[in-house]
Amino acid sequence: MCGIVAYIGSDQAMPLLLEGLKRLEYRGYDSAGLAVLSDDGEIKAVKTAGRVHVLEEQIESQGGLEGTIGIAHTRWATHGEPNNTNAHPHDDDKATGHGIKVVHNGIIENHNALKTLLLEQGHVFESETDTEVLAHLIGELYDGDLESAVQAALREVTGAYAIAVICSKEPGVIVAARKGAPLMVGVGGSEYIVASDSSAIVAHTNKAIDLENETVVKLTRDSFRTTTVENMPVSAKLMELEVKLEQIELGDFEHYMLKEIHEQPQAIRRCFKGRVDVESGRVVLGGIADFAPQLLKAKRIILLGQGTALHSCMVGEYIIEELAKIPVEVDYASEFRYRNPIIDEDTVVVAVSQSGETLDTLNATRESHQRGALTLGLVNVVGSTIARESDAGVYLRVGPEIGVASTKAFVGQLAAVTMLAVSLGRTRYLGEDATRELLQHMLAMPDHIQSVIDGSDGIRDVTAKYVDLENWLFLGRGSNFPVALEGALKLKEISYIHAEGMPAAEMKHGPIALIDKGMPVVVVATRNSQYEKVLSNIQEVRSRGGHVIAVATEGDAEIADLCEDVFYVPDVPETLQPMLTVVPLQLLAYHAAVLRGKDVDKPRNLAKSVTVE
Ligand code: G6P
Repeated sequence: MCGIVAYIGSDQAMPLLLEGLKRLEYRGYDSAGLAVLSDDGEIKAVKTAGRVHVLEEQIESQGGLEGTIGIAHTRWATHGEPNNTNAHPHDDDKATGHGIKVVHNGIIENHNALKTLLLEQGHVFESETDTEVLAHLIGELYDGDLESAVQAALREVTGAYAIAVICSKEPGVIVAARKGAPLMVGVGGSEYIVASDSSAIVAHTNKAIDLENETVVKLTRDSFRTTTVENMPVSAKLMELEVKLEQIELGDFEHYMLKEIHEQPQAIRRCFKGRVDVESGRVVLGGIADFAPQLLKAKRIILLGQGTALHSCMVGEYIIEELAKIPVEVDYASEFRYRNPIIDEDTVVVAVSQSGETLDTLNATRESHQRGALTLGLVNVVGSTIARESDAGVYLRVGPEIGVASTKAFVGQLAAVTMLAVSLGRTRYLGEDATRELLQHMLAMPDHIQSVIDGSDGIRDVTAKYVDLENWLFLGRGSNFPVALEGALKLKEISYIHAEGMPAAEMKHGPIALIDKGMPVVVVATRNSQYEKVLSNIQEVRSRGGHVIAVATEGDAEIADLCEDVFYVPDVPETLQPMLTVVPLQLLAYHAAVLRGKDVDKPRNLAKSVTVE
């Protein structure tokens, strides 16, 4: 949800900023912009609607931008349409002439009130953005010291921000700050790279300052200083970045989504490594060990997430209730927070999030914490805000996920929630032998997932038969019902085909009216406790002319007679099936998007990390 990057050092800033923007483009790609500050205080900026490559072309056509300090931005539009004027950086030029330029990720919630005041003081605004208001406010408060002006402006602001600011009157300085939006500072020899995440940093250095929330940082070429907005010193920790450059490179794959689907076996292995111990029949989760007494007395678990993470929560409900026999509730984090939820100290709230930055999930976690719940984060990005602010948690360890459509994080979330369920179950009713057997099956999952991925070409051929049809249904029962939701979400988000997922039985209560020869119906129909009932649902679709594509258990010949097409998956226990049945649906969505010529990794209107409510 908007990416920012800034550089101060001895190299030319422009190529480094463009490279950083390309790495951060998954966060938003409605417009892009860049400003470079030369040593004599001249700022040159280029900004444009569209992708980073459009910005790059424009900069090249202008003969490049010289300077060793700069700021840059890739936008996911919130306030104001994605046009040239609303693109960042924004400035105060027309009002104060201080030459202040700002890039911003987040939302200044009181921008209307601030704008009214600034208009009264004679400021004229060009864009519709909240960010321009902040630029003018900093300009208004500037009195020869950029750091103080930024601190003073941020004291007036409510909302979330990660910003980087330069000023033509201070050619050796960048001021950056964060509150509720991610930001880190890579530390090189005599250079600093400020970025929304480590992907824009690791090509240059593996050392970074992890900025605490609500920190302002002033950077010169050879110094940094971290303070609060009240100008109180804040300690800064230097850390080593875990992400390696090769993890964020595309390699031989055509798209990040395909790469990440292929990485799933390895991702699950990493997630289980050192945690799943078949010999002792236990799962060891170091991140929650200190909270064992509280977990033992948990009377209720609430799982919260958004998007794909919510679907993991829905699967988690089945798994935790089955293995740990603790009542589970699932909710959209966005809804949960605003319905005055009933929480007590015997409630455990689990926030599920790939990025660890989704604002709704973060706010719901904070609310739960305030109301006395133990909060756990099942999060992928190490050091992200949800990971920091939860009482405890389990990292997914699936590696960086860059494709906007989440894939390996989903199976990682299912792996993590399964480990959590086993660990809770073992303190209650789950016996040692049953656990050992389940753990063995869990460790075999990477190979099973690989075998489904190996069938990708067959899935593409089936997809090609139906790819021109505009309306699809996805059906499943039990823990495969959320998989149906996830299959539909994947298809619609990257191929723009209208798709709905639902419990197979629910189809009869309305959606069946839609079924005709033009509607593919994807049914997750693996052998499990609901199998016979799903077969009946398939018959209902077939007798109305719908095309059925089934996801079925290897060796199930009966279903092949009933359906037009079948994607087979290995036979695994019911609890583990969603980790496997989702894979053909990911591949189906991927191939559909490629066959329709869509931009798989950057679907229109979407952003990977949604840091606004
Ligand atoms: C966005 C992404 C989805 C993701 C959801 C939740 O909508 O496009 O892929 O599932 O946010 O993100 P999180 O980082 O909290 O898992």
